Amino acid sequence: MDRDTVEPQVDSFPGEKGERWIGYHRQFAAPSTAAYEFVWDVTEEALGPFCTDVDGNVLLDFTSHIAAAPLGYNNPVLEEKIDEFDLPTPTKIAGQSFYSSTGWPPESPDIPGIPQLMDRLTDLTSDYGLDTVFLSNTGAEAVENAIKICYDHGSGARQGITFKGGFHGRTLGALSLNRSKSVHRRGFPEISGIHDVPYCKDRGCTPTTCDCGFFQSEDDMSLLREMLDSKRGYVDPADLAYIIVEPVQGEGGYRFPSDAFAEELHAVCEKHNILLIVDEIQTGLGRTGEWWGSDHYPFEPDVITSAKASQVGATISRREVFPEEKARISSTWGGGDVLAALQAAVTIDVIEEESLLRNARDRGEQLKDQLREADLDSIENIRGKGLMVALDFESKAALEQTIRAALDRGLLTLGCGQRSMRLLPPLDVTEREIELGANLLVDAIEDTEAKRDLPTDSTTTT
Ligand SMILES: Cc1ncc(COP(=O)(O)O)c(C=O)c1O
Repeated sequence: MDRDTVEPQVDSFPGEKGERWIGYHRQFAAPSTAAYEFVWDVTEEALGPFCTDVDGNVLLDFTSHIAAAPLGYNNPVLEEKIDEFDLPTPTKIAGQSFYSSTGWPPESPDIPGIPQLMDRLTDLTSDYGLDTVFLSNTGAEAVENAIKICYDHGSGARQGITFKGGFHGRTLGALSLNRSKSVHRRGFPEISGIHDVPYCKDRGCTPTTCDCGFFQSEDDMSLLREMLDSKRGYVDPADLAYIIVEPVQGEGGYRFPSDAFAEELHAVCEKHNILLIVDEIQTGLGRTGEWWGSDHYPFEPDVITSAKASQVGATISRREVFPEEKARISSTWGGGDVLAALQAAVTIDVIEEESLLRNARDRGEQLKDQLREADLDSIENIRGKGLMVALDFESKAALEQTIRAALDRGLLTLGCGQRSMRLLPPLDVTEREIELGANLLVDAIEDTEAKRDLPTDSTTTT
């Protein structure tokens, strides 16, 4: 596959083999697992954002496996490192419960492993003074451990604040913080004492113009500030172990908050000395064109949660926030295994060495410009930071039709929120690939717009 010339090519999607794979998979998989109708053939060619499915269709993947494949498919630098790594037997060796060496000296062995990943992560969080990491496996675990360390640190503080529209994972602790869709929480037991306030959904809002409900119109006081106010509020800040926020809401609909919101969040945390957990599981490691989504805003995380692009879950904070008592937090598979840690560490190196933060910013602008220039009737609110880009459709049905039409043209996209489409190309996406993807998407949107405009009786032909 030549990345400079390859083009998406779809015969039928899903094809016969795809359907059979999906049917086979579903015989055994829990029925409520969210899965896409796309069967990547790992034995076939794939490179950058291009991959081949089991029917031989070549697809342009603008989902990056929901941000978990930040370098796309078969990144050559990553492959080279993994090839160099003479996998020990058994290949899977438990995470941070044991010490394991991957060469000498520990600060820069040939093959980076678990401690080198933690070293790199704390390098990237040093501006926030976060110097210590607890590795786990998933985003939900990173969040679970973030709230656990905050409860422990706040000895006796048993309450927390989350934001409407937020999503933090599916384990019982993490799901208690969710406020996006009812399917995530309905009927499950939750941890108590979680309050919520509106999230800012308007990037331009100020305390006086706010219509998202965060600032109140009578006195410009935010609901967050009011909730903690000694006269008007109902939560004693001393009982509060943390506030948790996504710097950009992902699952909730790619909502990019205003500076006024971020400033107020920062000011309230400072005033009451509240630990701020910033959930960077979708935004982290370069997705927004900066290392962290937080880098765009004035708030200062006390705890960062990372996963997806970091391949493993990571809860990063200051040493004094973590408990000292042995086994208070722990995990046999913390950090996944040597291979997962290697992949994460090399991903960080590639982002740095190949200036992919800049690339994410430039290509993100290109993508938004191209979509805006197309001046599509049914599309609004084209927005994004870096390669975290979204657009809104007039309805959920229109969104779903367009995702399908894009697939038929060989472009993989994802929905989020109620009627938003999210686009997450790999961080090393090229100018040509963005142009290709944007053209396919515009074509898919125009096609579905035209079909929706047809008078109902002309949809059936005689
Ligand atoms: C912001 C955010 N937090 C937490 C999670 C949960 O991560 P995981 O699915 O790895 O448990 C996700 C997953 O989409 C997420 O986007």
